[in-house]
Amino acid sequence: MSNNIIFISGASRGIGNSLAKYFAEKNYTVIGTSRNDFESKNLIPIKLDITSRDDIKNCYKMLKEKNMLPDILVNNAGITSDQLFLRMKDDEWDEVISTNLTGVFNLTKVFIKNMIKDKYGRIINISSISGLMGNPGQVNYSASKSALNGFTKSLAKEIGSRNITVNNVAPGFIETDMTSYIDDKAKEDIIGTIPLRRFGRVEDVSELVYFLSSDKASYITGQTISVDGGLLMY
Ligand SMILES: NC(=O)c1ccc[n+]([C@@H]2O[C@H](COP(=O)([O-])OP(=O)(O)OC[C@H]3O[C@@H](n4cnc5c(N)ncnc54)[C@H](OP(=O)(O)O)[C@@H]3O)[C@@H](O)[C@H]2O)c1
Repeated sequence: MSNNIIFISGASRGIGNSLAKYFAEKNYTVIGTSRNDFESKNLIPIKLDITSRDDIKNCYKMLKEKNMLPDILVNNAGITSDQLFLRMKDDEWDEVISTNLTGVFNLTKVFIKNMIKDKYGRIINISSISGLMGNPGQVNYSASKSALNGFTKSLAKEIGSRNITVNNVAPGFIETDMTSYIDDKAKEDIIGTIPLRRFGRVEDVSELVYFLSSDKASYITGQTISVDGGLLMY
């Protein structure tokens, strides 16, 4: 049985904040993080950079002392730093990989311990269709998200016998700060390629994450499930 404590990285806005509200409404104890101070209703906000193992260690210690270690981990925090490959700087590569991929390793490594102890766990990584189909200007981002598929499958195989599931959710274009740079014309063109003819809403992602975190999804692991209005079918 889950202890109904969920840890969501990157919960100050966008998909992570929507998830935090969604789970709080269902009476979960929600711990949400971001690099900057933030306030949000019904969640315990923690300032933490997922690229900092010291930040994570301190957070783990604090939650352990309060008997608040989560059984559900949503690795949601992620960044883009788009650039065509020939112009991509080392920093743009390093920053994206260390946040989107190594950050997931850092958090999972620490929080999986309690799931093993509780013999129950749900790890949900927020990947992207960019990692499945590629996207010009996103070699760094696509590589980081694609790597999460391998991470998820291998970990799911290692840890399934402990009653811990590991899955990926791959959103398409969702209305958040991350996609706010897309101008109206480009947005119209993109919408023309989406069978359901709209950008996704943050709630579209929350519904799937909620399902995957629940007992109803207890026989689903190692999967990547897209929420993209049908943009990528395979
Ligand atoms: N929006 C989309 O269309 C879309 C599509 C596919 C996949 N995704 C994925 O969905 C996830 C959420 O995206 P979003 O659109 O909601 O992004 P967003 O609106 O830009 O929010 C990102 C969140 O992550 C936090 N964050 C970033 N770097 C962090 C770090 N190093 N440590 C801790 N927190 C960090 C941000 O807070 P601070 O800046 O304060 O740290 C913020 O709370 C990401 O993994 C993204 O790649 C989004």
